[in-house]
Amino acid sequence: MKLWGGRFTRTTDRLVEDFHSSISFDQRLYRQDIAGSIAHARMLAAVGLITPAEGEAIIKGLEEIRADIEAGRVTFDVGAEDIHINIEKLLTERIGAAGKKLHTARSRNDQVALDLRLYLKEEIPEVKKLLAGLQKVLVDLAAEHLHTIMPGYTHLQKAQPVTLAHHLLAYFEMFYRDQERLDGCLERVDVMPLGAGALAGTTLPIDREMVARELGFKEISANSLDAVADRDFVVEFLAAASLIMMHLSRLAEEIILWSSEEFGFIELDDAYSTGSSMMPQKKNPDVAELVRGKTGRVYGHLMGMLAVLKGLPLAYNKDLQEDKEALFDALDTVKGCLMVFTPMLATAKFRVERMREEAARGFATATDVAEYLVRKGLPFREAHAVVGGLVLHCLEQGKSFQDLTLAEWQSFSPHFAEDVFDCITLEACVQGRDLPGGPSPAAVQQALERARKILAGI
Ligand code: ARG
Repeated sequence: MKLWGGRFTRTTDRLVEDFHSSISFDQRLYRQDIAGSIAHARMLAAVGLITPAEGEAIIKGLEEIRADIEAGRVTFDVGAEDIHINIEKLLTERIGAAGKKLHTARSRNDQVALDLRLYLKEEIPEVKKLLAGLQKVLVDLAAEHLHTIMPGYTHLQKAQPVTLAHHLLAYFEMFYRDQERLDGCLERVDVMPLGAGALAGTTLPIDREMVARELGFKEISANSLDAVADRDFVVEFLAAASLIMMHLSRLAEEIILWSSEEFGFIELDDAYSTGSSMMPQKKNPDVAELVRGKTGRVYGHLMGMLAVLKGLPLAYNKDLQEDKEALFDALDTVKGCLMVFTPMLATAKFRVERMREEAARGFATATDVAEYLVRKGLPFREAHAVVGGLVLHCLEQGKSFQDLTLAEWQSFSPHFAEDVFDCITLEACVQGRDLPGGPSPAAVQQALERARKILAGI
């Protein structure tokens, strides 16, 4: 007999039983489900809907069930549909009549919304911690490489010299915004839906504020229909997770490029690389590639959840059961990726001479020469054209700027003087970009301090 079987005369088809059951994946919510039920029972006793003795029996029973689940002594029943019914059934089997009162003034619709919110309230800080761990590695590496010059790119073509510290701190900023998005999401998760019942609350005199206090929620939901129908907090988390993955995938891609022989900027530790079953010489950046690849599945969950919610009429619909696998898999994926990415980056060796060598090639200092001419009074557009001519000349002669004589410089513009040689060193180019947010070691030092302060506050 189903817990809801009163109005039914025939049993559920075996196929339907399996099809609509969520216990295989929502058992993951057992702790939150039990915590929610304990708070609910306390409230029911406090307002006199159950006796204090019944309240105590329920709470004790639930705590025992939790211990048994944790000890692996509970086998969940697919026929009992989901974690909510499974636990309620176990409770009634164990404590008898009092167990049947637990669901007073409650529906699985507000219960599942509560469980999911409790779950995210625990998990978001975990993701934040892992993300902060990666940010710490970025900051430590940046401190170490304040003066490591590397080429900066646009269109993956050498553009202007930067420092490795500056490049890495760009990712710090991206992950900082991800942290802020998680904070924002957590704020909206922190709303207590219980009391919404199936959709329209209850006629019984419950105390929603007490339940919110018991469970550590900041506030209670303002509309019972919204409380059971809304999953935008799940979408929000999936969006924040997608952006984390997007940022991770970009860093992953750079690590993959940099560890190629063609770049040779980085060597990954053996512990975070893999080999080939056929080609004995191979050392592959599989971890970074997998992180890049797994980004797709997190995006998929975001799109999937948006599609589930599109056009869904109020209030609860069983479609909403699809929220959990998406959320759980996205959470596992983001956490798993951060867990392995952080030590992979921390143990990587940066080949600073190779970076410098490449920064010195390809006329990465051309803009600096143009700005030299600007300082001598030439309009920028004219300076740009002069330096363009110089680059062409060098390409034709197979020379770099360093190889040019002063006479050659001056044949392109009378503004060039001896001091042009100081302006084309990589150090001058980097140090000269001393604006706030720029790559000069002094500016990056400021950025580092900002980053450290932010990290301390996470
Ligand atoms: N397993 C359901 C879910 O995950 C719980 C709520 C079910 N409510 C209902 N009336 N069928 O959404």
